[in-house]
Amino acid sequence: MSQREVDMGTDTRRCWDYEFVWTPNHLTAEKLDPLRYSFDTLSEDCLKPLNSLSQSSNDVVPEQSPVNNGPPSNTPSQGMKTGLWKNDLYTTLRDNHEKHEALGRLWKQVNTIPDWVDWEQISRGQEVYYRYGLSMTVALVFQSLLGGMGTGNVVETLSRTGGFSTKVVRRRLLETAQHTLHVTQSLESIRPGGAGHVSTIRVRLLHAVVRHQIMELAKKRPSYYNVEKHGIPINDLDSVGTIHSFSTIVIWIGLRRQGIYLSDREAADYIALWRLVAHYIGAPTDVFETPEKARATMESIMLSEVDPTPAGAVLAQNMIIGLENTPPLFASRGVLEAMARWLNGKSLSDKLGIGNPDILSWIVVCWVFLTFVPTLGRSMMIRLGNIPDDNPLVKIGNERLKRGLSALDTCLSSNDWLAGDEFTAADVMIVFSLTTMRYFYPYSLREYPGIGRYLQRIGRREAYQRAMRIGDPQLVPALGLDPPKSFGS
Ligand code: HEM
Repeated sequence: MSQREVDMGTDTRRCWDYEFVWTPNHLTAEKLDPLRYSFDTLSEDCLKPLNSLSQSSNDVVPEQSPVNNGPPSNTPSQGMKTGLWKNDLYTTLRDNHEKHEALGRLWKQVNTIPDWVDWEQISRGQEVYYRYGLSMTVALVFQSLLGGMGTGNVVETLSRTGGFSTKVVRRRLLETAQHTLHVTQSLESIRPGGAGHVSTIRVRLLHAVVRHQIMELAKKRPSYYNVEKHGIPINDLDSVGTIHSFSTIVIWIGLRRQGIYLSDREAADYIALWRLVAHYIGAPTDVFETPEKARATMESIMLSEVDPTPAGAVLAQNMIIGLENTPPLFASRGVLEAMARWLNGKSLSDKLGIGNPDILSWIVVCWVFLTFVPTLGRSMMIRLGNIPDDNPLVKIGNERLKRGLSALDTCLSSNDWLAGDEFTAADVMIVFSLTTMRYFYPYSLREYPGIGRYLQRIGRREAYQRAMRIGDPQLVPALGLDPPKSFGS
């Protein structure tokens, strides 16, 4: 029996170190199969008119295709001038939707808000993203995107554009992060005309171009892409799976593996936000109707679709190489691998060829994820709950926090940075807890001079100063030993 499915003799299934119970909401591979051959035909219908309108206007018309027409390879695509396509096609759609029937239909669809949208819920869903910001981002990059390279059929399309080759992977990740920021920014940004709405439609049109070109090349040269085997490129099943990777997979796997359990309401709100993105991007939305249904589809798709191929392992490697020692994380390869292994589990990581990092990288990542940040979070919640100081929970929390700070102080007294001589992702992960978080949960660092000197080093970093100026321009960075004046006082 494969790593994908271990029948535990009951309804329990195990799939790449993730265990779940099969329910009537789950879908067998046979039930999912037709979604491989259905896709966003509405955008497809618009490509011809959009292209001729673009050519007749003064806009820049792309000379190169976003799809590699050579054999799929690990090298940067010759045709990644996608920016031209995206901008041109969206603007052309917006300005000409009254002139062509198909354009009118697409414009109407993306500007019609379905009955199930509750804007208050969408706004709460956006807040969920910022409440768990760093952990959400870690889950998205290391688990949803990197682990997503385990989906063999999706990789077949991705490897034909070169978007995940080593040279451009970082830019591609930043584009994806920017899309998520646009989606989560504010209610205005996700409403029609807002940045999240517009950039989702741009991505939708880009997908249509990629799909169309792969299909055209496959018609001329069937060996280029096997539709029967992999389905239509960017089909409904893959699209639903990708919306899952931004939402349910983050909720039930990525965050949980970092020790964060969303409440039922937070989960429902976050899924509702991404269901709206599914609507704008032309993917099926019914499967996200309830959290139960969404979770069951996520698990069904994991079971039937996650099956890493050598091409997926190459793209996963490319992501690690592309991110190594680059801003904003400046993480060493070892720390990146430890994070990827932590979030994806051993069996999937092995199959994706993710290396086994050195022990120090493991220790740093595990300690920050599992001990320090959750301990501090718990102590803060207890304080917010006004639980008296003599309550055993408070005592245990205080004791753990002291132990954590002492361990940190010892480490930082002999190292400049958490993982040794180099600034890494572990430093980025911990700084908020030692600084800005003290505005919400004040605690002193007087007994920890090693941490004090570390915070001074952090404060001298130009990147930190720049990030604070952009992210929190009004806030005085809490880099001293004494706690800052609490927001609540
Ligand atoms: C339905 C949810 C999806 C979302 C929200 C999404 C999001 C994105 C974003 C943000 C970009 C970057 C656009 C830019 O350049 O600024 C992108 C590009 C792209 N996406 Fe998607 N995507 C989804 C589904 C898929 C699926 C299912 C596939 C393939 C099977 C796919 C394949 C691609 C390709 C080929 C590109 C452009 C070139 C490249 O980077 O390889 N996407 N997508």
